[in-house]
Amino acid sequence: VPGAAEFVPPHASLAELRRASCGCHGCDLYQHATQTVFGEGPENADVVMIGEQPGDQEDVRGHPFVGPAGRLLDRAIAEVGIDRDRIYVTNAVKHFKFEERGKRRIHKQPGRTEIVACSAWLDAELRVIEPQLVVCLGAIAAKAVLGPSFKVSERRGELVTMPDYAVIATVHPSSVLRAPDRDEAYAGFVADLKRLRTVCGGIRP
Ligand code: URA
Ligand code: SF4
Repeated sequence: VPGAAEFVPPHASLAELRRASCGCHGCDLYQHATQTVFGEGPENADVVMIGEQPGDQEDVRGHPFVGPAGRLLDRAIAEVGIDRDRIYVTNAVKHFKFEERGKRRIHKQPGRTEIVACSAWLDAELRVIEPQLVVCLGAIAAKAVLGPSFKVSERRGELVTMPDYAVIATVHPSSVLRAPDRDEAYAGFVADLKRLRTVCGGIRP
């Protein structure tokens, strides 16, 4: 697997990166997905949120977090009192990985190879945006940013300081939708996101 690096234009703006990502063949996932789903949001965002990969609806519509998980995320962000329009939202892997079951396309978790292959896009996004805080939504994003041994279950909500930005990892909004006790899972998710407010205390809300 060659990885995305050779498709990432040097010194590019976010718009140029987005355009170039449409032609990425850095791993096999582009072959079956509809399109690359690049990150979206302001180039001067203080906060970048990273999900796993586009879902079924994101794949079809070409935008991140516009399906059920995205709606839950929007609700949680609003509840925490942060302006959604000031957050840049992206994914660790930019193509939808799935398995066909009849007419349904069932999400398949990306492997280490695909996460590593796609990381050049995420690195480029973070380099251009230079956020103060990165929020990893779920284990795949957390491993992409904090390394393969990072365990969200043990360290969710913890503020991790990296050289260029701080990181908070929490669960994926899809896991809240699947949880046996959805209200409790949602409350935990919102509690983790609230930590973002303390970190962002001095930052634009
Ligand atoms: N889940 C993700 O991780 N990302 C999306 O964009 C949608 C659902
Ligand atoms: Fe390129 Fe990432 Fe898509 Fe693989 S998943 S083809 S690395 S954009």
